[in-house]
Amino acid sequence: YWIVYPAWPLVSSNTTGMFGYSSRADVAVELANLEKVRGDKMVALGAASLADIEKDPALLALARAKGKTVFGDNCAPCHGSGGAGANGYPNLNDDDWLWGGTLDQIMQTIQFGARSGHAKTHEGQMLAFGKDGVLKGDEIVTVANYVRSLAGLPTRNGFDAAKGEKI
Ligand code: HEC
Repeated sequence: YWIVYPAWPLVSSNTTGMFGYSSRADVAVELANLEKVRGDKMVALGAASLADIEKDPALLALARAKGKTVFGDNCAPCHGSGGAGANGYPNLNDDDWLWGGTLDQIMQTIQFGARSGHAKTHEGQMLAFGKDGVLKGDEIVTVANYVRSLAGLPTRNGFDAAKGEKI
């Protein structure tokens, strides 16, 4: 064994043995093979449609594993590492979606954002009452206070509840 395999430590190296075996070289070959297999699969993943990925268990497993890393790097700061959300950031674990929970809708959200100004972004239904001149400044203050009263929150002194309800 001492003669044919790497064995004895020398000052800055070791005896290499007659077979020229090196575990490091083996690892390098294995890593290169793994990279190649992974690389091919990643190309396949990028080229496949969402429907095809859902149908192919191998691609789906790869997408989930890769997605977990991407989520941790890009999404977790706002949505939480498990997607549970936080104040101002929607929970992605429940069945309650602002912009739709199908794979296509979620992909659209990630690609174009919400209210981002892009032509394909999700648009909200609410009008810009102030900017579009539908309501005047004091009416907005009144109706904002009325909304607070609906939620049982404190309102500004002297706010006209009846007028708020009418608006
Ligand atoms: C800077 C904080 C931030 C980051 C980073 C972020 N998001 Fe969001 N995300 C939000 C906010 C805020 C909303 C709500 C947007 C709205 O409705 O206007 C949202 C909405 C969503 C929605 C729609 C939820 C629903 O109920 O329909 C999905 C899905 C989503 N994000 C996924 C992701 C993914 C995946 C990533 C990472 C690639 C990501 N987000 C990164 C803040 C963030």
